[in-house]
Amino acid sequence: MEGNSAVQTIIWAPQGYQSDLTRETALPGSVAGAHVRRAASLAQTVAEASERLRGGELVAFPTETVYGLGGAALQEGAVRAIFAAKRRPVDNPLIAHVASREQVAQVSDEVSPLAARLMDAFWPGPLSILLPAVSHLPVALTAGLPTVAVRMPSHPVALALIAATGQPLAAPSANLSGRPSPTTAAHVLEDLQGVIAGVLDGGSCEVGIESTVVSVEDGQIMILRPGLITRDQLLAFSRHVVWDPHLLTHSEAGQPRAPGQKYVHYAPRGEVMLISGKDRHSVHLQMRERAQATMARGLRTALFVLAPAPQLTDVAVTLRFQLGAVNDPAAVTRQLYAALRAADEAQCEVIIAEYPPDDKDYHALRNRMLKAAGGSVVNASERA
Ligand code: TXA
Ligand code: MG
Repeated sequence: MEGNSAVQTIIWAPQGYQSDLTRETALPGSVAGAHVRRAASLAQTVAEASERLRGGELVAFPTETVYGLGGAALQEGAVRAIFAAKRRPVDNPLIAHVASREQVAQVSDEVSPLAARLMDAFWPGPLSILLPAVSHLPVALTAGLPTVAVRMPSHPVALALIAATGQPLAAPSANLSGRPSPTTAAHVLEDLQGVIAGVLDGGSCEVGIESTVVSVEDGQIMILRPGLITRDQLLAFSRHVVWDPHLLTHSEAGQPRAPGQKYVHYAPRGEVMLISGKDRHSVHLQMRERAQATMARGLRTALFVLAPAPQLTDVAVTLRFQLGAVNDPAAVTRQLYAALRAADEAQCEVIIAEYPPDDKDYHALRNRMLKAAGGSVVNASERA
């Protein structure tokens, strides 16, 4: 965090993981001496980091989705420190991350047969499941709700860290509240350097957006937050897979079941304009027109492009970010948060982005983009 180097943040760089911080990287807003890099074996870096966690300190770590800001889930002080470091609203509960099925018992003593089948099928992986919470959990962890969200991440560094700590790790995304979630260790440092004890650098996250969050009740699955694991995949486990009604309306009315869904998340500093339409050619022409218009008005403009987009190759903009090929939703999804951060770094006031096709593999990404845009989409047939 700019100007704040209250603590020296350690970058633990376990050998064998691709890192984008191999040298003392000059980070935006970084303070001289605010971080130090330690490369060693996975076992050694994990041993050091888990010792900090047992002592109540905060350590960010890679998962397959996004980086998590870890703290010991059973220690009230550590859980509170997470909220303070992120400046997170206290009514937004955290996910408890486990390294084994046995560890689930530390946060819940009631795993229904359906919840167990979902764990068998999707763990380790990007599915967070709400379970009845045991009564002695730190109240901040669940925000006082009767349930606790639990997930077993698949990233080997995350699994090793949780196992070595010996208790579940509470871990929201390791960004300041309201900033895009971090998908690299550098992103974590941008937001939390000087505030947290350290970050384990495991390279770029494979999925790039947060886990699917579900509740399971009476044989019914309700999706509270879309993610890589789709409704179709969940339908193999229950005939009743429903969306939290709040996700379908995108209205301000009513309370989402996942408190986090009501906040304007994933928000860059610039205004996001999503351009959609059946015909990609007219979407691109519209993007081009709008970009030319905002540049002409002197506004720093970013263009988020899905390939192929021949009409957009020669538009003069402040930042042109190629998310990936339109027929590769996984690649595009992986890039969204890095693109939003790049637009912030380039001080873009306007971000013009193609809204990806209404395809099930783009469902979760469309949810995040819509949030970044504050809920509105421009149809390509409208005039600029
Ligand atoms: O992929 C992920 O889930 C990442 C990585 C680090 O594991 N974590 C993450 O955590 O995205 P966070 O805190 O940014 O999002 C947790 C979401 C929030 O929307 C929160 O409201 C919801 O899960 N949630 C947590 N506990 C809940 C509960 N008991 N009832 C309803 N929603 C809950
Ligand atoms: Mg988050």
